[in-house]
Parts: sequence; C-alpha cells; structure tokens
Amino acid sequence: PARLTVPAIRARKGGEKLVCLTAYTAPMAGLLDPHADLLLVGDSVGMVVHGLPNTVGVTLDMMILHGQAVMRGVRHAVVVVDMPFGTYEAGPAAAYPAAVRLMQETGCHAVKLEACAGIGETTAFLVQRGIPVMGHVGLRPQAAMVEGGFRAKGRTEAERMRVLDEARAMDAAGAFAIVVEGVTGDLAGEVTRAVGAPTIGIGASPDCDGQILVTDDMLGLFERVPRFVRRYADLRGIIGPAVAAYAEDVRAGRFPAPAEQYGVKPG
Ligand code: KIV
Ligand code: NA
Repeated sequence: PARLTVPAIRARKGGEKLVCLTAYTAPMAGLLDPHADLLLVGDSVGMVVHGLPNTVGVTLDMMILHGQAVMRGVRHAVVVVDMPFGTYEAGPAAAYPAAVRLMQETGCHAVKLEACAGIGETTAFLVQRGIPVMGHVGLRPQAAMVEGGFRAKGRTEAERMRVLDEARAMDAAGAFAIVVEGVTGDLAGEVTRAVGAPTIGIGASPDCDGQILVTDDMLGLFERVPRFVRRYADLRGIIGPAVAAYAEDVRAGRFPAPAEQYGVKPG
C-alpha cells in the first residue's frame, strides 16, 4: 500500500478506524507496517526494551536511535516519535529544537507530546513551524513520579475537566490526532466528540477514532501489563521453551549437526 500522510490520518475522524501500534526496531516495524496506519516510537521503549521502571529516564538520544531503526523498516505507515520527558515541558523554546532533532535525525513524520502546562501554546508553535504534533491526554506516563504510579483518569469532575480542556487545547492548536490513555469509557467518548482531530484510544473505549497498544504487551513479550491489554500472542511462552531446547542441545553436543556446519564442497 502507498505511504500514508499526516493529513490522511487527520481526515479519518469519524471514518474507518485507525490501526496503531508501537514499534522500536526495524524488523518489528517491518512486520507491523503492512497492517498499521500509524506506528508510534513510544517512550514506552524505556520500559519494554530498556528495563526502566517508567518513562522518565528516557532521553532524546534514545528516541532518535529507535526512531532511526523504525524508519528503516517502514514503507507505508505514518511514523510518530514521542518527545521524551524533559524536552518540551518548559515551552516552545525547549520543544522546538528537540522536535527538529527528532524530525531531522530520524526522518519521522510527526512527534507526540503529553499534555502539560502551556501545551496549547507549545503545540501551536511546533505546528506553525512545520512539525506535525500528535497529542496525548488522560493517563500521562511521564507524570508517574508526581502521581506515584500509573492512575486512570475520569472518575472525578476535576479530572474530567482537565482531560477535556487539554484535548481541546491541543485540538485547537492544530494537533492532527490525540491519544487518549487510561480514562473511563464515557470520558473517552466525550473527548472524541469534543475534538475535530481523531482520537486514538488505549485503555479508553471503542468510541475512539482508532486504537493503539504497546506491541510488546499485545504479543505477550512484556510481563507486567495493564488490564486493558488484549494478548493476541504469547511470545514469552514460545521463547522460553525454544531457548531451553537450544541450551539442552548445546550441553548435549547435539548442536550443531553436520548440515549446520561449513564443510568442503563434495564432488
Ligand atoms: O509510549 C507509548 O507507547 C505511548 C502509547 C502507549 C500511546 O505513548
Ligand atoms: Na509515550
């Protein structure tokens, strides 16, 4: 299929559901690409690949390295790279050079920012200067240290107002899509109806204009997964026995066999 574009994603509001997944490496990106509209190089890479306890320790250099890898594996989907903790919260003067580095050094198509103080202004500043922005509201993983973990949103009026206000601010500022994470189902629907940009749900509701999952979660590669993850495969259950069988073969001297060795050509 032909390369999708940021405006094509924006135009899917209320239409065919957007299929989105995370990707961190070239070969996995290549496997996901034919099936996905949008691939996110999420800062979740810090947790599922680098073993960090949350996403606060992820750096711009890490995002650039994984963004480069994913771009080499993708021909069709729109690729969005997360702006990591500490690179945009101070405002446009910080966000712009960091976003330019992500765009120029990876060739990605857009960046994603979690809602924070001044997010409307920062989003507009980037969009008006040629950097497509995807928003992220609701449960904001980069706030894990302030909130003492990952907490779903939408059970109090104050939380609902905040999520709606942040979504509206990013929408008005020109965000082309908005991730809605870890919110009550009714709030996800309310946000979806309140903004012109398509919403992409995770731990949200089917009312969103699309869905995203962390690929390592839905494939059963990452062990600690939230309740909203549907497991489409159990790769840990495949890898464990495979590695055990290899270890047994090596210890027993059964590997490599003659056909698995380089030899002198017969004849
Ligand atoms: O980092 C990530 O994987 C994300 C998605 C869960 C939306 O931000
Ligand atoms: Na993220």
